[in-house]
Amino acid sequence: MFRFAALLALASLIPAFVEAAAPLYGQCGGIGWNGDTTCVSGASCSKLNDYYSQCLPGSATTPSTTTTRTSTSTTTTRTSTGGTGTGTSSAPTSTATPDAGNPFTGYTIYLTPYYADEVKAAANAITDSTQKAKALTVANIPTFTWFDVIAKTPTLGTYLADADAKSKASGQKYLVQIVVYDLPDRDCAALASNGEFSIANNGLANYKTYIDQLVAQIKQYPNVRVVAVIEPDSLANLVTNLNVAKCSGAQAAYKSGVTYAMQQLNAVGVYMYLDAGHAGWLGWPANLTPAAQLFAQLYKDAGSPKFVRGLATNVANYNALSAASPDPITQGNNNYDEIHYINALGPALSSQGFPAHFIVDQGRSGVQNIRSQWGDWCNVKGAGFGTRPTTNTGSSLIDAIVWVKPGGECDGTSNTSAARYDSHCGLSDAAQPAPEAGTWFQAYFETLVKNASPAL
Ligand SMILES: *[C@@H]1O[C@H](CO)[C@@H](O)[C@H](O)[C@H]1NC(C)=O
Repeated sequence: MFRFAALLALASLIPAFVEAAAPLYGQCGGIGWNGDTTCVSGASCSKLNDYYSQCLPGSATTPSTTTTRTSTSTTTTRTSTGGTGTGTSSAPTSTATPDAGNPFTGYTIYLTPYYADEVKAAANAITDSTQKAKALTVANIPTFTWFDVIAKTPTLGTYLADADAKSKASGQKYLVQIVVYDLPDRDCAALASNGEFSIANNGLANYKTYIDQLVAQIKQYPNVRVVAVIEPDSLANLVTNLNVAKCSGAQAAYKSGVTYAMQQLNAVGVYMYLDAGHAGWLGWPANLTPAAQLFAQLYKDAGSPKFVRGLATNVANYNALSAASPDPITQGNNNYDEIHYINALGPALSSQGFPAHFIVDQGRSGVQNIRSQWGDWCNVKGAGFGTRPTTNTGSSLIDAIVWVKPGGECDGTSNTSAARYDSHCGLSDAAQPAPEAGTWFQAYFETLVKNASPAL
């Protein structure tokens, strides 16, 4: 508030003939935007989607101009039996794994300007002043940035440069949170989140280029720490969904791709958490051991990379870390919330020699008992923002509670004629009408704000 007033006072001193321009990383266009459409010197206005253009450093040729963001769609196939599993028996050896400590300790998490600006624009569209003020506070809560197409990789460089500058200016150490999400034949068990690369068309080589491009950006900013969630849903699909032809067909490429990502990102010191689905997926008793075997086998095959810190759970999902009581949809699974899942999976991982540390997404887990089935994942009605990111997790296995999914970005369209329509987004517990995956879903964001628990 004080800072805002000071800025206003300063603005009034600026002579009227200075042409108005949006700041670096500020919004400069999009449907409903009435503000400045030009950017300050050194930046240019780049269209990120129909609703949002942003001032990014440099010329207008940045590849992000033609991409839309699709941080979307966690497939939550519930498999209580199946669990084919791909791990082979691996001798339980030492539990001492060469991990590098909790990466969040002592670091300030970088706020992605993209999400902060989406939130500010959304808050400004809310008329109720109380709700607007609450919505604005979300702009200060860190989320992960999803790199879901190769064209976005240069954007990581701009964020790292910004974080580096903020670090130098403040003397604080900065951490940038990213999601690595571009495997060929991505999201093999679902319809809504197909990726840009296909295995049949050079997809694995393209994926390696994508990883190389991330690495090239990261290498330039050795003072900024990067924490990455690796490939939501991919390995979990290999545990339970090999009966789906696209998943069995993708098995070798997923394993090679994730191994390559681990090795290359390890070489530049990126702290990694492999995605491990959630309690209602790999948390079923029959799936725990096959899951632990698969994670451990890949980790060993990659050479036990020191910066692989553990697993990420509940990404883009709605489970509580610690539920007051089991939601009826959990149907007798003892691992009915993330803490039970983590406590069950942790020892299985350790006995296989995999570093059993976790981060847990609680971004949209504020309200429980809102789903008809545990596998429902699309824009679930009545959800609220959850526990804020913190290293005060109450569990020695959990490094941090995080917000991986940027709340307010849509999970998938409810338009049944759309090419990427997934029936989950048309269920009675899915908020509708919903726009395309990754685009802003204002009504949903407003509900997340209203239902936030703890309250915003
Ligand atoms: C639904 O998708 C179809 C096919 O893309 C499109 O023609 C139609 O305009 C969409 N309807 C709405 C309400 O967005």
